[in-house]
Amino acid sequence: MGAATAFMDNIRMPSAPSAPSIVVTSARLTSVDVDMLVVPWFEGEEPSSLEGIDEATGGELARALGSKEFSSCPFELFVTPVAHSAWKAGRLAFIGGGAAAAFDTAVARKLATAAGLASRQRRVQRLGFVLRPGMAPASGDVDVAGFLQAIAEGLTLAEFSGSIYKTGAPAQGPAPHFTIVLLDLPDTSPESPTRLEAALSRGRILGECSNLARELANEPGNRLTPREFATRAAAVASGGGASVEILDERQIEELGMGLLTGVGRGSDEPPRLIVFRHEPPGAPARPVLGLVGKGITFDTGGISIKPADGMERMKDDMAGGAAVAAAMRAIALLGAPIRVIGIVPSAENMPGGGAVKPGDVLTSAEGKTVEVINTDAEGRLILGDGLWYARKLGATHLVDVATLTGAIVVALGKSASGLFGTPEWWVEVVRRVADRAGDRVWPMPLYDEYRDQLKSEIADISNTGGRPAGAITAALFLKEFSGGLPWVHLDVAGTAWAEEACPYLPKGPSGVAVRTLAELAFTANRWKQ
Ligand code: BES
Ligand code: MN
Ligand code: ZN
Repeated sequence: MGAATAFMDNIRMPSAPSAPSIVVTSARLTSVDVDMLVVPWFEGEEPSSLEGIDEATGGELARALGSKEFSSCPFELFVTPVAHSAWKAGRLAFIGGGAAAAFDTAVARKLATAAGLASRQRRVQRLGFVLRPGMAPASGDVDVAGFLQAIAEGLTLAEFSGSIYKTGAPAQGPAPHFTIVLLDLPDTSPESPTRLEAALSRGRILGECSNLARELANEPGNRLTPREFATRAAAVASGGGASVEILDERQIEELGMGLLTGVGRGSDEPPRLIVFRHEPPGAPARPVLGLVGKGITFDTGGISIKPADGMERMKDDMAGGAAVAAAMRAIALLGAPIRVIGIVPSAENMPGGGAVKPGDVLTSAEGKTVEVINTDAEGRLILGDGLWYARKLGATHLVDVATLTGAIVVALGKSASGLFGTPEWWVEVVRRVADRAGDRVWPMPLYDEYRDQLKSEIADISNTGGRPAGAITAALFLKEFSGGLPWVHLDVAGTAWAEEACPYLPKGPSGVAVRTLAELAFTANRWKQ
């Protein structure tokens, strides 16, 4: 078997609609037949808060709460056998949910992932997760469908495994069969079973698509070259029903994309331009959402080469592009009502004999000239041509996603992506969607004054603005290629990869922005045109 086939085999391709490995029930807790039943437990709750639960543990819950062996701190876990013969579950697990007043879909999603990961560690085969929407602060009707979707996403995110290249026994068991138990539903809840089913399958699809993006971001640079990335990204998106076209280095040059061509020149591996389209029959002519993702399959820095320490991490420099591919799959599977175009320019940034050199001037497809001061600022170059192409294909509203700058990691750390853009209402649309999708973003300013840092002596613009405000000048470079359209840029350099494991996110690729991009395509009725 050739190398290419070998790793195509590694992609799990969830079929559409996805396999029903999550079921939802509102049966009594006693009758839920699972190996481990996870119950979120909130601050200040007494053993008696949930009728019959302490008896089910033979008094272990009261004992553990009394002795402080278990508190309700977020993600703390207390597992105990079921000691009551009337219960079908094998074990009960209590997971700290923090303050009930803070219980929302974002917390529910994380609790579900933490529960899923913990049960894989324990090799649980059938996992029950108890959703207690009644614990959410009641402000009108509780959005049970929203909670259900978030939990399905969370449980699915726990299925990701980053260890496909380990040949020994897996450190974790396979993903269990999930049952979500709906408990203490508020009487006012207007949810119909079909709405709940739809929420469940939506969460499942969004979780699976996030995991597909994580698999791509996890692939090493030798396996995932621009050509291979294009093939696999195309398989991901077209498997969901989106149409995909891959342009080779000749076609890229014919389009005049001097920036993408320039970055690609340092490598023996030719660049690619991946073009995704979702064109539902009967969709309006506008708006057309244009998603653009950075697809650098490895970033050595080029001639402005990076230090050796930590350079291996630069295999995930295509995480933005993977997010676009996976989001296109979700958008097609879920049937977004508008046209969506996805553009992923892909190259390997290497210091080969043909590489761009500091001081070189490149001409973008749009015609603007760029002085390359630092060849390590390659992401903005390829995205410049990518944004132009999205516009050329008719995009009316733009969002780009990129592991663009170390500076955003200095500014926001690993817990939030940088949110940039214009005009304000479009930034706000994306911010709201991201919050709901569980991708934390934080707005950054684009004041005109910063633009001066990008002045070049010799060309229209320089590709770096020096150290101050490095994430902002990178964003301002991209803005030059947005053609005045509503445009948002997400800098995910700090969020695409978890350096430290936490209860709801193992070390490795996070799948950032997939759910935001996909959900955005369902909000067009709230956009200005
Ligand atoms: N891919 C990097 C940005 C990055 C840094 C991603 C750390 C993830 C973690 C990008 O291409 C880059 O090298 N940016 C330079 C820009 C500079 C030369 C103006 C940077 O941030 O140092
Ligand atoms: Mn770089
Ligand atoms: Zn890069």
